[in-house]
Amino acid sequence: MHAITIPEPGGPEALVWAEVPDPVPGEGEVLVEVVAGAVNRADLLQRQGFYNPPPGASPYPGLECSGRIAAIGPGVAGWSVGDEVCALLAGGGYAEKVAVPAGQVLPVPEGVDLVTAAALPEVTATVWSNVFMVAHLRPGETLLVHGGASGIGTMAIQLAKAVGARVAVTAGGPEKLARCAELGADILIDYREQDFVEEIHKATDGAGADVILDIMGAKYLERNVKALAVNGRLAVIGLQGGRKAELDLGALLDKRAAVTATSLRKRPLEEKAAIIAAVREHVWPLVGAGTVRPVVDRICPMAEAPEAHRTVEASSHVGKVLLVTPSA
Ligand SMILES: NC(=O)c1ccc[n+]([C@@H]2O[C@H](COP(=O)([O-])OP(=O)(O)OC[C@H]3O[C@@H](n4cnc5c(N)ncnc54)[C@H](OP(=O)(O)O)[C@@H]3O)[C@@H](O)[C@H]2O)c1
Repeated sequence: MHAITIPEPGGPEALVWAEVPDPVPGEGEVLVEVVAGAVNRADLLQRQGFYNPPPGASPYPGLECSGRIAAIGPGVAGWSVGDEVCALLAGGGYAEKVAVPAGQVLPVPEGVDLVTAAALPEVTATVWSNVFMVAHLRPGETLLVHGGASGIGTMAIQLAKAVGARVAVTAGGPEKLARCAELGADILIDYREQDFVEEIHKATDGAGADVILDIMGAKYLERNVKALAVNGRLAVIGLQGGRKAELDLGALLDKRAAVTATSLRKRPLEEKAAIIAAVREHVWPLVGAGTVRPVVDRICPMAEAPEAHRTVEASSHVGKVLLVTPSA
């Protein structure tokens, strides 16, 4: 098969479409013939040599894919050869075939085509596990999503609206904010022009956000705590603004607030399977009903992954950038 390999870490040109050995599904795994993969921000770090795959994972980049099951490993029940699926991966989505633990496989939801389904596993699993399973966002509460126009952000807005929450977003500029509004965002904050702490307090009569989904880490920690409501929950999923900052525990005490941080890729298989089962139960019906839609910015041939990485690096996209194999 062919896959995007990284012979030497570096810029987008470090991604090389090359012939490599086919993967073989192990115990509890299925082999997926990939039709599409998607670019995640973390892939940019892997390409640069800063985010190596966990032990046992495919060496190729790609944290999600869609395609057809081509073979079933020992001990797998519930899936058949030919099934159209999408899957959460620890690596290997930028390839023509990938072996996936069966617990990370989902059927293609009703009303979504096979290529577009590649946009769903990573964002639905990350948003559902953090905003709902960890931070327990409830109807009527306010969620602040940083980077509302990102892959993650576009899904967070829709899921929070679907459960009856009020949604505030930050994004860089009016065009991206307009896209967030189309997806249902109620409070639009241009982080280049406005102070999000001030804006969230203005929009909530001084109460603040009940839940914040944060991708900036250190750079926003102090301001995020200020933006939280009493009993607020700050869920950190990205460190785009650095990993080390000072945390004022007194401010958390006063608000009886919580800060959590999680990452999906290195979690044990049972935890990933539990998250995927929850996504199938709670999110898939919303996608099937058209209440929640995958947001796809563009679709590129997989061999043109360097160009796709340039797009994501420049943040000139809204939602997801997909990569299709020659079989698509
Ligand atoms: N922990 C996990 O399990 C997990 C899983 C998936 C993703 N993530 C993380 O979630 C984040 C989003 O991932 P993605 O793949 O959806 O990335 P993406 O589509 O590339 O989005 C990155 C976003 O960051 C925004 N941004 C940059 N500076 C900002 C600032 N100062 N304030 C607010 N937003 C800012 C950009 O928005 P503008 O263009 O508007 O600036 C852009 O939309 C990444 O940090 C990623 O590592 C974590």
